[in-house]
This record gives sequence, structure tokens and C-alpha cells, in this order.
Amino acid sequence: MVNGYSEKWLKQGFCWVYPAEILAHPKRLRTGQVVKLASESGEDLGRGLWDSGWIAVRRFRDDAGPVDRSLIAERLSAAQALREVAVEADTTAYRLVHGENDGLPGIRVDVYGPQVVITLDTPSVKPLLGALVEELNERLTPRGIHLAWRPDPRDNVNTSTLDSGLISGHRPPGDVRVTERGMACLVRPGAGKDIGLYSDMRTNRAWLEPYWGGRRVLNLFAHTGMFSVAAAMSGASEVVSVDLSQAYLDRAKANFVANDLDPNDHSFLAEDIRKALDRFRRTKDLFDAVILDPPGFSHGSEGRLSAKQDYPRMVAASLRALAPEGWFIGALNLGMVSPRDFHTAVREGAKKSGRSLQLLFEGGQAPDHPALVEFPEGRYLKFGVWRCVG
Ligand SMILES: C[S@@+](CC[C@H](N)C(=O)[O-])C[C@H]1O[C@@H](n2cnc3c(N)ncnc32)[C@H](O)[C@@H]1O
Repeated sequence: MVNGYSEKWLKQGFCWVYPAEILAHPKRLRTGQVVKLASESGEDLGRGLWDSGWIAVRRFRDDAGPVDRSLIAERLSAAQALREVAVEADTTAYRLVHGENDGLPGIRVDVYGPQVVITLDTPSVKPLLGALVEELNERLTPRGIHLAWRPDPRDNVNTSTLDSGLISGHRPPGDVRVTERGMACLVRPGAGKDIGLYSDMRTNRAWLEPYWGGRRVLNLFAHTGMFSVAAAMSGASEVVSVDLSQAYLDRAKANFVANDLDPNDHSFLAEDIRKALDRFRRTKDLFDAVILDPPGFSHGSEGRLSAKQDYPRMVAASLRALAPEGWFIGALNLGMVSPRDFHTAVREGAKKSGRSLQLLFEGGQAPDHPALVEFPEGRYLKFGVWRCVG
């Protein structure tokens, strides 16, 4: 039985119940057990899976039906129908299931050509894994399905005790070639965070495509270089990719080659972006476009970096490396930062650097990463393109 506050949110379509919202529950509930949700007045609010973590119940349906393979099949059919229209031609890497936003809380399914990665947020949704794998094998006939875990740090889950890796079929040796609107990318499904492609950025890269011609581009936090490749493919005169990791930059070069681009026409700098930006400022080495897409937290040669706290400073440093009328392309992948706070951070950065910006485009995650309006956390990716006007 849940309190009135939770009842209100459940009725609006929110699908989590927190421990403090539970007024009474049967003794000895097991993690992953199907539970009935009811209001104080006894109204049936649906069925969910019990958890002992920071979320107590993830609701899978708002009626009295089963939480089983038939439900997985129903939700997968709806998810597939959306992707049929939302995933562009020549795109073989996309998100098929985006958790809560596709009616399957705690479960994400990413397709990388013939390989599929299932990512679970919590062991409490694992009872549905067998049915999910069977359905995916029937619908997509993938060559391999991998399991990964991404528990919330608040749950203190020890992922080393959980099965992960290839759970069905097989994986060919070497990298897997996928495409994003025709652009090739070499990925490593089953390599945790190292897969090598963020498919949620696809529509942002698509928007920028007509504008790269003749520009000198700086890609900060370049990773496997998909923004760099996109810019170079569309005629950028030079792309400078900066990343702490030489291993990622080597993968970026391989992605250039996979798209018939010569990496020797471009630069790859393995260093902390703060060091690179400081040098560009001192030597007045200016760019026509700077891409800033940091991870949430990292450690580099210049110390700790927090995307949330340090964003204005990073924007200011990026703007100091921009030529007059250059474009600043900013992204922030953090659910806890609202779109409004993201824009405030960019404005603060502009003020710090003494430059004035014009917003040209506001993007976000590609539509195969939908966001339920009842679920603000779903709009995690912030993205914008600004032009320097002073
Ligand atoms: C989440 S990825 C960025 C995504 C990328 N822009 C893309 O579209 O694929 C984070 C990258 O930042 C790099 N990184 C983290 N801290 C860094 C720092 N201080 N300086 C340079 N690169 C850093 C990591 O090595 C990693 O490749």
C-alpha cells in the first residue's frame, strides 16, 4: 500500500515507488518478486517488481495483468514500431528499449548491427531477462546478445557478483562495423562503457552535417571520434581531436579509415583538454567550431573534472579558442541537470570569456531514446549550437 503522494504520481504515469512512500507491505518480499500496488483506499494501481534499493518498486503495468513474457512481447512490439520510423536509413546502431520511457523500467536494449546489448539497472528486473532474450532472438535473430549492468551508485550493488558478457549466440572476433546514417563506426559490444558509439547523439550530428564545410574543428573529449569523423566526412578542412586516452584516439583513427578518410590530414592529441585549451589560447590557435561533450566525472593531468560544476569554466576556455563568429557546440549528458540549468551554465561561460552567443539550435537525444513527459529524468542529454557574435 502506497501513500497519497505516490498514488498521485503513479496515476500520472510515473513508475517508481520509493521506500518512504510505502505504508504497508507483506513480510519477506523477495527482490524481483511481482507485487500489487494499492492506494490507501484499496484502489488497484498496478503491478511492479519489488526491490530493496533506493527504489522500492518499479511498476511495469497500471492494471492487474501479468508481468511476464506476454508483457515483454507487447512492450517490444511498441518499441519496435517506434524505431521503424525513428531510426533513419543506413543506421544499424540504435536503442530499441529505453527503460521507463518504453514501459520496461530498469531495462535498456541497444542494437549494434548483428549484436545486441541488454543493460539492467538492478538485479530486481533480472527475472524478466530469460523472456527478453527469447523475444529478442525471435524478433531480431541477432548473432549475439550481451548482458551489462549499470546499477545506481546509491544501491551499492557489487557488479562483480553478477553474470555479465555474452549470454546468447556468439560474437565475432575483432570490432563490429555498424553505421549511423551511412557513417561507419567500429564498436565493441559487450565491452561495458567502451562500446565506442553514443547513438543518442545521432540527430545532433545529422543537424550539423550541412555546416561543417571548410571549417577547422576542435573536438574536445573526442572519444572514438564520431563527431570528428562526421565533421571530416562533411568537408571540415581539419579536425583536431583531443582525448586523454591514446587508446580511444587510436580507435578514432580507425573510424576515419573505416570511412575512407586519411587520419594524417587531421590531428589527434592525447592530453587533458584543459592543457590543450590553455595552449591554444596562449598561441592564439583559433578554431571555427569547438565541440564540448564531457563525461560526468573524470580525472586528468590537471586534476578532477566535474561536468556539472566545471561546465561554465570549460565553456569559457572553449570560447577563448574560437575564431570570431565561430560556433560553440555544447553537450551535457546528465539527467540531474535540467535544460534550463544547462543554458545558464553556457551563459555563465560566455560571460566569463567576455563573448556573446546566439543560440542556433537546441537538440537532445535521438528519438530512439524517447523521454516520457511524466519522467523528467528521461531528458538526460542536453545539446546546443551557438554562434559567437562578439
Ligand atoms: C563520454 S566520452 C565523450 C563522448 C564523445 N564526445 C562522443 O560523442 O563519442 C568521454 C571521453 O572523455 C575523455 N576524457 C575524460 N576526461 C578528459 C580530460 N580531462 N581531457 C581529455 N579527455 C578526457 C575520456 O577518455 C572519454 O573518451
